[in-house]
Amino acid sequence: MKKADFLKGNIEIQGSKNTVLPIIAATLLGSGISVIYNCPMIEDVFVMCELLECLNVKTKLENHVLTVDTREADYAPLPSELTGKLRSSVLLLGPILARWKKAEIGMPGGCAIGLRPVDIHLEGLMKMNVDIKLHHDVLMCETYYMQGTEYHLKFPSVGATENLIMAAMGVKGRTILRGVAKEPEIIELCNYLLSMGALIEGIGTDVLVIKGTAALESCDYCNVYDRIVAGTYLLMAAAVPSDIRLIGIEDIHYIKNIIHVAGLLGVTVVKFENYLSVQSSGKVTGGDYITGIYPEFPTDLQPVLISVLLGAEGHSSVTETVFDNRFGIVGELQKLEADIEVLGQKAVIHGGKRLQGHTVKAKDLRQGAALVVAGLMCKGYTTITNISYIKRGYEDIVRDLQNVGVKITYI
Ligand code: EPZ
Repeated sequence: MKKADFLKGNIEIQGSKNTVLPIIAATLLGSGISVIYNCPMIEDVFVMCELLECLNVKTKLENHVLTVDTREADYAPLPSELTGKLRSSVLLLGPILARWKKAEIGMPGGCAIGLRPVDIHLEGLMKMNVDIKLHHDVLMCETYYMQGTEYHLKFPSVGATENLIMAAMGVKGRTILRGVAKEPEIIELCNYLLSMGALIEGIGTDVLVIKGTAALESCDYCNVYDRIVAGTYLLMAAAVPSDIRLIGIEDIHYIKNIIHVAGLLGVTVVKFENYLSVQSSGKVTGGDYITGIYPEFPTDLQPVLISVLLGAEGHSSVTETVFDNRFGIVGELQKLEADIEVLGQKAVIHGGKRLQGHTVKAKDLRQGAALVVAGLMCKGYTTITNISYIKRGYEDIVRDLQNVGVKITYI
């Protein structure tokens, strides 16, 4: 890819990865056919479908429409070779337990962005009377009956909240979950479960009251746009003079926090009926930022923000509060002659200096996308290797950038 002087054109924002993965897991709670519209055609979705197929679930993904047929679903262990390919494989634990009262599932994989334990998932399940053993990296779970409980999550983990909500569907009686995550993905999952016939109170707050229901009906779902992909392009626009449109954004509620930060960086965003008009002069304003749980600035955009801040004169900083080791971007940006230092959980960026294109390596999904954004700011050519990481979450970042005039291609 080459340095970009001006971005102009339209980018269609794909459906949300982190919303659709738990929704796909939730289809297991019904015995019928579910159709999921606006499903992103990405690697993580393909693997999630393969995992369902191990349970004799039929899946078909065509033109962003995913059909899941659980009518003949049958219990089976989930092999580590597949579960190890993505973090969200662990989200099948809740629905499998709710449906079959037992589960045997390899430990999850996922991006290497720090310690990613599943202790909160497991502690919550044990409170529901699930017996869990770890045997050679395989979780062996069993329960005679799942029991209503009251459980306070020690951290509002997104995945644990999703898992426990789905597991609670198999409980006879009431489950109260305190200290839950409030990310948009949780709200979408709860609303989907309501449409399947679940009873959940407190949606969008940090306490959820869930009434177990054995008979959930399979339901269709229209996926929301991906707030992190939209955010990637909103922030990117700060770094290069831009006049672009992000298409498919009908409601900005879930990205107000990101639009706010884009504004501070120097981007003007105007909402139209189903798109955002995004303009900037390409002159980045520096500042000090901190990631946090929703509605604070998302950790998933932290690497992109660091890349963009390289364009700002003087010192800026980004503090990471969600993951303990998510500055994998820094070493690669240094290969582009970026001046950044990491002090514990804070990255200090000395910006406004010339960046030089080089070969850099994607090491996780968002870090990879952030390298693409940095490449737009580098003199000469930048080559990014290991792009399979980026494909786990961005349907086609090359196509998206070509649509706004960037000279970028697969090699
Ligand atoms: C989800 O991961 C997202 N993934 C992540 O996006 C995102 O970064 C993260 O939430 C935070 O917003 C999906 O939705 C598929 P967590 P998740 O459980 O659920 C600690 C991307 O790039 N924790 O909220 O795995 C954990 O170590 C991905 O799209 C425990 O200690 O995140 C971390 O520090 C990357 N014990 C913090 O909580 C647990 O049992 C947040 O993790 C679980 C988590």
